[in-house]
Amino acid sequence: MASRTKQTIASQLIENINTKNITIGVVGLGYVGLPLAVEFARKGIRTIGFDVDASKITSLQKGKNYIQDIKDEHVREVWKNKTFTATTDFSESGQCDIIYICVPTPFTDNKDPDISYIVESAKAVAASMRKGQLIILKSTTFPGTTRKYVKPITDATKLVCGKDYFLAFSPERIDPGNKTWHTGNTPIVVGGISPDCTRLAVAVNELIIEKVIPVSTPEVAEMEKLLENIFRSVNIALVNELAQLCDRIGVNIWEVVESAATKPFGFMPFFPGPGIGGHCILIDPYYLSWMAREFDFVTNFIELAAEVNESMPFYVRSMIEREIAKQPVTMQKAKVLMLGMAFKKDVDDLRHSPALKVAELLDDDGITNISYFDPFIPSVELHHGKSKKRMLKSIKSIDAASLKKYDVVCITTDHSSFDYASIVKNSKVVVDTRNACKKVKGAKKNVVLLGDGK
Ligand SMILES: NC(=O)c1ccc[n+]([C@@H]2O[C@H](COP(=O)([O-])OP(=O)(O)OC[C@H]3O[C@@H](n4cnc5c(N)ncnc54)[C@H](O)[C@@H]3O)[C@@H](O)[C@H]2O)c1
Repeated sequence: MASRTKQTIASQLIENINTKNITIGVVGLGYVGLPLAVEFARKGIRTIGFDVDASKITSLQKGKNYIQDIKDEHVREVWKNKTFTATTDFSESGQCDIIYICVPTPFTDNKDPDISYIVESAKAVAASMRKGQLIILKSTTFPGTTRKYVKPITDATKLVCGKDYFLAFSPERIDPGNKTWHTGNTPIVVGGISPDCTRLAVAVNELIIEKVIPVSTPEVAEMEKLLENIFRSVNIALVNELAQLCDRIGVNIWEVVESAATKPFGFMPFFPGPGIGGHCILIDPYYLSWMAREFDFVTNFIELAAEVNESMPFYVRSMIEREIAKQPVTMQKAKVLMLGMAFKKDVDDLRHSPALKVAELLDDDGITNISYFDPFIPSVELHHGKSKKRMLKSIKSIDAASLKKYDVVCITTDHSSFDYASIVKNSKVVVDTRNACKKVKGAKKNVVLLGDGK
């Protein structure tokens, strides 16, 4: 009898998914959640978004999109035809058949995982839970979060996981700013608590994603996401270290990497830079190293990679200060212009940006005449430790006259819209941390490139 009930709830939900007779809930309407919600709504599936930030809901109500990766007209269209609604009232999650949780997973001041957002949203969802719901956690986290932290909360409803309700982990792979790979064509991994949980989570993801790969457990899915990001962190750290060596021996690291990348197998190019940022590659590895400590295990690669990557803004500060020292100007009077504040090119995301760190380090050293230009970031706050120091506003443009005013111009983020030829032509000295001036023709004697030793 019990197994027939299980079959009935799971197979009823599968049937509803296959016929799109479902309501999707998305908890956390940020870089991950809003594109996901809009994607489902654009397939004609009723979708409700939930967020604790009322200003986001108000924006959506006004038809205003706040995520750069989604088209404004797509948000307006699904909002207007009412396939997508959004609210701060979590009791409406009871209407949803499938609920995705896409809330932040930051670290604490001591770089320990902070899964309180996951716990809070799981509690909010559990408060209105009913039979026949599938919950999919998407926030990046350490292995065991779904089973040991979310499941006890949803189990406390007295509903039985795998029978009355279903629970899975399916990590997000969105790469903001990537024009080739988007939600629909990026394969995704799913691991459920039980085979039915996995089957259902695969089915619902397949409504919007071409390829969905089931794995045996949520822990595999949680860990594979961390592997993806640790892989990037370690490889970026490797080239960042080699860039520093190349600076000493006078070899151009960029040419080294590009020539190595001509090998058609067994090599993948990674490039140096002023450090890593964003909400993923910088933070996620710490989730695993924290967990490893509980098992008396030290994740040496993760720690070393973090150390090298987090030293890069300090390295760039030294590059800038060296160029100031070569000129007849004091540190206090030197004028520095930073080009790009976002953590990577063509995005409006400032989270953990290495460019911001460079600005703060310069400011701490008494180089207070810092300006910046970033078409995506109108203003930034400089901190000293944890305390706020002051606000900087992006200058309006970087025409020839304005570039000439600065003693050092540092390219920290290589936005596509920058006119690199003009930057090289009109600046006294350019510190290029991204090899952005590579394509500028003619003499570039005033360009100091990270990792070429000149
Ligand atoms: N941004 C990316 O490119 C990316 C890529 C892959 C994975 N991820 C992971 O996805 C998760 C979400 O990241 P993001 O970049 O979308 O974060 P975000 O900060 O852009 O969005 C999170 C949203 O959740 C909301 N929120 C916070 N607490 C909430 C709660 N209790 N209930 C409901 N909403 C709540 C916030 O107000 C915010 O709107 C993180 O774990 C991140 O590591 C992000």
